[in-house]
Amino acid sequence: MLKSHSCGELSKNHLGVKVTLAGWVDRRRDHGGLIFIDLRDREGVVQVVFNPETSKQAHLIASEMRSEYVVRVSGEVALRPPGTENPKLATGEVEVIAQNTEILNPSKTPPFYISEDTEVEESLRLKYRYLDLRRARMRRNLLLRHQVVKFIRDFLDAKGFIEIETPILIKSTPEGARDYLVPSRLYPGRFYALPQSPQQLKQLLMVAGMEKYYQIARCFRDEDTRADRQPEFTQLDLEMSFIEEEDVLNLLEELFTSMVGAIKPDCGLIKPFPRLTYAEAMERYGTDKPDLRFGLEIKDLTAIVAQSDFSVFRSALARGGKVKGISAPGCASYSRSQLEELNKLVQGLGAEGLVTMSLAASAGSLDDLTPEMVRSVAAKFLTMDQIREIAKRLGADMGDLLLIIAGKPELVDVALDELRREMGHRLKLDASHLFSFAFVVDFPLLKRSDEGRWEPMHHPFTAPRGEDVSLLDAAPEKVRGRHYDIICNGYEIGGGSLRIYTAELQRKVFRLLGYSDEEIEERFGHLLKAFDYGAPPHGGVALGIDRIVMLLAGEATIREVIAFPKTQEAADLTFNAPSPVAEEQLAELHLRLREER
Ligand code: AMO
Repeated sequence: MLKSHSCGELSKNHLGVKVTLAGWVDRRRDHGGLIFIDLRDREGVVQVVFNPETSKQAHLIASEMRSEYVVRVSGEVALRPPGTENPKLATGEVEVIAQNTEILNPSKTPPFYISEDTEVEESLRLKYRYLDLRRARMRRNLLLRHQVVKFIRDFLDAKGFIEIETPILIKSTPEGARDYLVPSRLYPGRFYALPQSPQQLKQLLMVAGMEKYYQIARCFRDEDTRADRQPEFTQLDLEMSFIEEEDVLNLLEELFTSMVGAIKPDCGLIKPFPRLTYAEAMERYGTDKPDLRFGLEIKDLTAIVAQSDFSVFRSALARGGKVKGISAPGCASYSRSQLEELNKLVQGLGAEGLVTMSLAASAGSLDDLTPEMVRSVAAKFLTMDQIREIAKRLGADMGDLLLIIAGKPELVDVALDELRREMGHRLKLDASHLFSFAFVVDFPLLKRSDEGRWEPMHHPFTAPRGEDVSLLDAAPEKVRGRHYDIICNGYEIGGGSLRIYTAELQRKVFRLLGYSDEEIEERFGHLLKAFDYGAPPHGGVALGIDRIVMLLAGEATIREVIAFPKTQEAADLTFNAPSPVAEEQLAELHLRLREER
């Protein structure tokens, strides 16, 4: 090794030790006689002092060092003079008195500060990702990711799971997104599809008798990128035979409890993890992945305002809509422009508008509410009884701000979910060190697509509840799936199910989803055939590793915890991908590009 110690490990325990360090110049300060270099490597930063009286030669070389130069230093660890300690630095009590040094490689001036946590435009960070990853926050995030994955591997190994890799070049495995396709050179006109998940492969591993499998698996989905979505992402994928729902849920609860305990011991969580049915989650929060760190529950006001004279409510209800709302505690003093911001937020999500009602702060109770105490465009169209009832239904108090939306039920839910998150954030209700894990269960097996076809709520391999199988023909909408999600702080971090394991039932579900017998054979024949050779009852789950690490790191996007992520527009700025390819490559793949009109 070119080094004997790492910069970040040095402490008072090393006083008097002769060390050789190698790393990057984080900062350089020239104080006339003395030169100070903050030397950085993966483990941290330590101060190195170049004193011409200790070594003229080393001091001369240090005077040429600039930020991000790669250098090597030998010297002795010493206590910093009293009063010059740096409590912000882990190594801040000591410094290295340089005796020898060499510049291993100079560096151009980087396009942004690496030693400072200043805001840098993301596209620039992604273009120079190798420099961005030198920054302390990114180093911490990648280290955390390593710890999480290692924790998972150790945990599952101890539980008797084995890690098995599955292919990346396969055939379409539908998870509801578009496939990434890879043209075949050897089979003209044919394509591999990259797996949206290893779903069918892990099921085949159960047929193969592996019983407990897992994999840290890369998945590919050509869908719109978002803060918590990448076209290429990583799952902890696992599958077990001879189990029921409880086995998976218990395993997950133990996994996350012990993971948070080991990796984020200062953070709390609520145990046992609460369970919500899908219907309950939608009713109380307007979403199947509510942030449960705070209340601000959504309440249905339709019955209260059904007879009101307020045209916004009346016309929405006449079109089969709903009126729902939440109460934001202590926000009655919101200014006109603050209210307009909230209005814009919900309009951006397709809602027609937001009805706000401010209840003036007062010592009295809701029963003492008078018209002067209510500020709202709706007030003059509602009776005081209606206003009081609305406020009570929303669990409001004097001084609160009522936020009400009328319209199509799905739109109202989407808008109020976003509004609830926004108000939770503004009121800092989401600022606690709490991981609010919960399970969402009792999903319907199917949902109607926009075109009126049946679509799987999860994926087509999810088993219906045994007692509901007979409803598949007569009332598919009533069939409940054996599906579960795990959510945390407003994110879906995982989903799974017990699977169908007989060809007969699987065929029936495919037919219900509108596949012809030919299509079923063509697309899923391999799986159905396998089910004919003694498939065990099985089930499993997949967890989004990127989302879990994002939450543990306290980051707002998964791009911050992926070494080389894609942009929002699915581009790789470090490599400049996707990129054009040579005509010969296309010819080899039997492809010709169409003129884009
Ligand atoms: P599902 O599609 O719900 O289930 O995915 C499981 C988990 O993977 C994460 N995830 C993503 N993370 C980042 N970017 C994306 N584009 C993305 N898509 C999904 C989420 C999600 O909860 N085969 C099934 C699992 C099973 O049934 O066992 C599946 O893939 O955290």
